[in-house]
Amino acid sequence: MSAEGLSNLLHEERRFPPSEEFAAGAVAQSTLYDDAASDRRGFWGRQARDLVHWDTEFGEILDWSDPPFAKWFVGGRLNVAYNCVDRHVEAGHGERVAIHWEGEPGDSRAITYAELQRLVCRAANALTDLGVTTGDRVAIYLPMIPEAVIAMLACARLGAPHSVVFGGFSSEALRSRIEDAQAKVVVTADGGYRRGKASALKPAVDEAVGRSTSVEHVLVVRRTGQDVEWTNGRDVWWDDALGKASTEHAYEPQDAEATLYILYTSGTTGNPKGIQHTSGGYLVQCAYTHKYVFDLRPERDVFWCTADVGWVTGHSYLVYGPLANGATQVMYEGTPDTPHRGRWWEICQKYGVTILYTAPTAIRTFMKWGEDEVARFDLSTLRLLGSVGEPINPEAWVWYRRVVGGDRTPVVDTWWQTETGAIMISPLPGITAAKPGSAMTPLPGICADVVDDSGEPVPNGSGGFLVLTQPWPGMLRTLWGDDERFLDTYWSRFPGRYFAGDGAKKDDDGDLWLLGRVDDVMNVSGHRISTTEVESALVSHPKVAEAAVVGASDPTTGQGIVAFVILRGSAEEGEDTARELRDHVTQAIGAIAKPRQIMVVAELPKTRSGKIMRRLLQDVAENRELGDVTTLTDSTVMDLIREGMSGGSAADEA
Ligand code: PRX
Repeated sequence: MSAEGLSNLLHEERRFPPSEEFAAGAVAQSTLYDDAASDRRGFWGRQARDLVHWDTEFGEILDWSDPPFAKWFVGGRLNVAYNCVDRHVEAGHGERVAIHWEGEPGDSRAITYAELQRLVCRAANALTDLGVTTGDRVAIYLPMIPEAVIAMLACARLGAPHSVVFGGFSSEALRSRIEDAQAKVVVTADGGYRRGKASALKPAVDEAVGRSTSVEHVLVVRRTGQDVEWTNGRDVWWDDALGKASTEHAYEPQDAEATLYILYTSGTTGNPKGIQHTSGGYLVQCAYTHKYVFDLRPERDVFWCTADVGWVTGHSYLVYGPLANGATQVMYEGTPDTPHRGRWWEICQKYGVTILYTAPTAIRTFMKWGEDEVARFDLSTLRLLGSVGEPINPEAWVWYRRVVGGDRTPVVDTWWQTETGAIMISPLPGITAAKPGSAMTPLPGICADVVDDSGEPVPNGSGGFLVLTQPWPGMLRTLWGDDERFLDTYWSRFPGRYFAGDGAKKDDDGDLWLLGRVDDVMNVSGHRISTTEVESALVSHPKVAEAAVVGASDPTTGQGIVAFVILRGSAEEGEDTARELRDHVTQAIGAIAKPRQIMVVAELPKTRSGKIMRRLLQDVAENRELGDVTTLTDSTVMDLIREGMSGGSAADEA
């Protein structure tokens, strides 16, 4: 985060305590903090028993004898899909709507828990018929349609780890993820609706699995009805497979530590990391955080998490948390501005949404579109708002509460990561007097701190690196197939503690303010993208000799990608080249990684040891005074780059 952003953070001094009425009726009472503080492990044991059904009771709550390889709820057996679906039907809530699904063109489906149970059982049987058994990996590459949730739960039912790949990723990104996880089946669709048009998905799958040695079948949901290429013997229509399958399926309880899923996320190197989550601990923390952070009363609330199922927020707060708690929720296929800029608010009004969970980038976009778009709809059912994915600037926080929340709803700014599995730092809405822009304090049961370079906790009023000081149930257990990288990435910087990769500040009261990544990971619209990944994509283009990528602060998306490239001898700079390079990155990774700006330069600033000084490039991209350039081999390089930048050789996004 820039210095400007930081001072903005510190300007808003108001506190927002919950109303007396909210506090009195809140699900979380302040005893929760004391309970956790007096006996942390016992606290998690009670949450596990309270929120989850165990087929076999666990023994030890936490085995931390071989840190950082944790085992939670040792010996316990459970089935995650049973917990998310069947038990609610057995408890008499079969007629409760689990998912109000809204398609972008305006079609909709209401799926009750009873219907969800039948669909998940059918899908589990269909996957079994395709040869999927416990431990096999299934890749899921779908738009935001109910089948994504059904497929994930069917995998959970079988104990077959899923690997959901965001539908906006390119075929190349999909291919590398399928390859790394050695997926046996891919679940996809003919396409989905986006911005009023049917966009295709199946061709990307065909390209990605063409040379795969692991994929045996592709299960295809019919969503748009467009023509698709078909590989006989390999491809199977979802409707045909489920139509033949029984609505009854006997689940197998899985070990608490059995892998529930792998989800790839960007790290500081070019290869995405396969974050590995388990069944027991992960589900407990999803259910716990969803219940207390969102003040959930399943019989009354309509919860809407706007995240795509392809990201961890979609996993934990569109699938596992809400469904474990028997909630009714909304799922929306499309974009917020189709067919008009009030679409989200229309959906809130239509379904009587009570709890909304979204990202600052969306809030800032709505601010840009103006209050009137929101005011056209009746949002009086909303009673709680959440934010996730990046630091929320106080202005956006206050706007969100005032315009969307009618100046009455608490706002919870929730900090967590793909790796942490579920929310870690957040206000509790009936208890905390929130400060706009601060995620406040670790949740009961979670231990975090801010430390300096040498690992010493910083005093109040100072900043440093965010670390997690005790294991937590939803923590990643390792990186898929790469224990070394797991140790190295998270546990070597501050031995004994988990290094989150984020900068943070403790204010004078000890409350936490997240300040953004301190590594080479960018955060664009709440999505994690590594600078190295985009650089590798750029240098794989024949015209590019060298590339350096930085995340420059952006008023709407948090950060925007700015690329500095050196072209090969004969290549010409100009609009066409910039467009070509941007398209190339889209091809290689996906549209989310497309640089906002491409800057052709003659040289890149490097240290004497040859390392690119991204910090300086970031200064240029953000138009700041240059930092210290004395370690550069040739400090005039920066003057040249800066001149080029202001002189217009930079090609802005068309
Ligand atoms: O930098 C932090 C930022 O998002 C990163 C995690 O990204 P990802 O694994 O994609 O998960 C996003 C959704 C959980 C973090 O390292 N981040 C997430 N939430 C916040 C945040 N930064 C500040 N405040 C938040 N509330």
